[in-house]
Amino acid sequence: MVCRGLGFGGSVAAMSDLPQFPPGFRFGVSTASYQIEGAVGEGGRGASIWDTFAHTAGKVRDGQNGDVACDHYHRWEGDLDLIAGLGAGAYRFSVAWSRVQPTGSGPANPEGLDFYERLVDGLLARNIDPLLTLFHWDLPQALQDLGGWANRDTAMRFGEYAELLGERLGDRVKLWITLNEPYIHFALGHVQGIHAPGLQMLSDQLSVVHHLLLGHGLAVSALHRTSSSPVTLANNYSPVWPKSDSEADQMAAAVYDMVQNHLFTAPILLGEYPPGYEFLTTADVDSIVLEGDLEVISQPIQAMGVNYYNPSLIAAPPEGDPLPFARLELEGYPKTAFDWPVVPDGLRELLVSLKERYGDRLPPVWITESGCSWPDLDDQFRIDYIAGDLAAVRAAIDAGVDVRGYCTWSLMDNFEWAEGYHQRFGLVHVDFDTQVRTPRRSYEWYRQVCTAAAPRP
Ligand code: NOJ
Repeated sequence: MVCRGLGFGGSVAAMSDLPQFPPGFRFGVSTASYQIEGAVGEGGRGASIWDTFAHTAGKVRDGQNGDVACDHYHRWEGDLDLIAGLGAGAYRFSVAWSRVQPTGSGPANPEGLDFYERLVDGLLARNIDPLLTLFHWDLPQALQDLGGWANRDTAMRFGEYAELLGERLGDRVKLWITLNEPYIHFALGHVQGIHAPGLQMLSDQLSVVHHLLLGHGLAVSALHRTSSSPVTLANNYSPVWPKSDSEADQMAAAVYDMVQNHLFTAPILLGEYPPGYEFLTTADVDSIVLEGDLEVISQPIQAMGVNYYNPSLIAAPPEGDPLPFARLELEGYPKTAFDWPVVPDGLRELLVSLKERYGDRLPPVWITESGCSWPDLDDQFRIDYIAGDLAAVRAAIDAGVDVRGYCTWSLMDNFEWAEGYHQRFGLVHVDFDTQVRTPRRSYEWYRQVCTAAAPRP
């Protein structure tokens, strides 16, 4: 079928213009625990680093926090009905570690596990595959107090937590996602300090990176012991565009490409860190990367989760800057309400480049997130955005990339981290004063995509 969705700006998203996808291709929606659940003091949940960060003055826009968010903890059944109403085949959500283990270690809190079991069973009853993320940035505060991801023990604790989930839900979860966007959690949370835990580590960043990866590997082992479902992680990838042909800009772009696109992929798929990673520490690498770690990290995974938002325009840093690259504004493209450029073909570009770089080591891909902030109820902008994505995914499939599913971010408006409730990514509008959910026009459009574009086998 001819696909005319690649352009952006017109109403290109008529159903007849949409590409066809292979049989079994799944369409779904994504969310994350801290962004939607609320009920932070209920069900025996312990504090997480996002509770602490959001309650620290000046960290989140207008002092907002996730204490109530979408109140999904109480309204989950209605929210599952909204997903069912889309005819979606998959729902990607995350578990709040501190609901399951309030201090991040020790026996499971039964109320926490019960909540997620109800959710998973509720999805299956509605014929929706549960895709479960173990860590979407809300580390138990008690673990942060012991050093967080800079502490190797956190990786061990993560493996134990994965085992608890695998034992309880291993027979029902259809895809496990260990970590969400470890690069963003590392960069925004541990280097720039604009996300929890709000650190600005200028040296020894490798310990955080390595322990996230080790935690992933230990979780893969635990999930393979307890479940036969595929395991992956969701990386945030971005095509990297150097600002110019100058050697300095090209070098800066290469470094940026290494940290964003390969630091959390090469160790997993190839069993080795990408060249140049040593700048992340002033310590002896061997004191952080211990013998045998890379074998744990590179155990086979059965899928690769891809989150995509936009490309990165990179230049050499200004003199004296502690970072080895500078990220510039990308001009000349439509912008979302968050001011992020809309470049649907970047998704094709990155999928093809992953395939080129990793070849047969790249497992089947799931688009675990993509979406835009756009507030209007009549949101042709979002429809065009998703249509652009779908055309890009189809083009990547045609170029030989095995893509199995697409989950849009997000089911409903939610707590957008440092932006609080100011960015609205939902197919469903949420009135945060009344908790009334109102499907946007894109919800109805995406319903047609889910039900018509990829008939379930
Ligand atoms: C990726 C993150 O996983 C998600 O939590 C966030 O809301 C979206 N990007 C939009 O920024």
